[in-house]
Amino acid sequence: MPAPRPLIAGNWKMNGRTEDGAKLAGAVRAWAQANNPRCDLLLCPPFTLVQAVAHIVLGAPVAVGGQDCHAEAAGAYTGDIAAPMLRDAGASHVILGHSERRQYHKETDAEVAAKALAARAAGLTAIICVGETEAERVEGRAEAVVGAQLAGSVPDGATAADLVVAYEPVWAIGTGRTPTEADVAAMHAFIRARLVERFGPGEGAGMRLLYGGSVKATNAQTLLAVPEVNGALVGGASLKAEEFCAIAAAVP
Ligand code: PGA
Repeated sequence: MPAPRPLIAGNWKMNGRTEDGAKLAGAVRAWAQANNPRCDLLLCPPFTLVQAVAHIVLGAPVAVGGQDCHAEAAGAYTGDIAAPMLRDAGASHVILGHSERRQYHKETDAEVAAKALAARAAGLTAIICVGETEAERVEGRAEAVVGAQLAGSVPDGATAADLVVAYEPVWAIGTGRTPTEADVAAMHAFIRARLVERFGPGEGAGMRLLYGGSVKATNAQTLLAVPEVNGALVGGASLKAEEFCAIAAAVP
């Protein structure tokens, strides 16, 4: 099984309004069209910009995703967004279980798994985020924590087409700190082994594993060259087109 085609995904988080969002998406689109990238590109703007960004990148090799969805397809859930709505707005992907959702919205593994099923039913690819805190790493529990998150957050029946896993150590997000290449390699090998064990050598080997947490143009080449790293989930650096495209250009 050849390694999955890399994916460089930008998580804009709660940033962007009509004008700057359009500018950013337009610049990424122009770069993608001009440069024949060695990876797939994905932009995950806030909900208010999903449709506009989808319109801007239409026809370019750039996909659009949401940053969360509800586990139900519709209903009385004020303030929530359902997976079919994201699909309807032009999204093909959705980030689920980001550590900021787990931390600030108390999302559990079971909730993330239910959301992933909703995403699959709507035809979206789920990017499920896992990762240990600094204390958990120091205590030597990083693999145990990530293993439990994988077991609980990834629903049964996942395939390489509908699931991407993002390993994002909580302590590396937005801090400018990254794990060593050896630590990233070890964790990605661990995640790959768990996925192969659970979903078989075909699907399990085909699922993309992204690294996330302080990925920048200056460290992208190193991180993206680590075995079993099939791309990156980029936060802060995805808000600058030049930086984001430089990360995509660093894909080996
Ligand atoms: P960061 O965020 O690149 O700003 O560290 C990554 C993420 O939270 O997905």
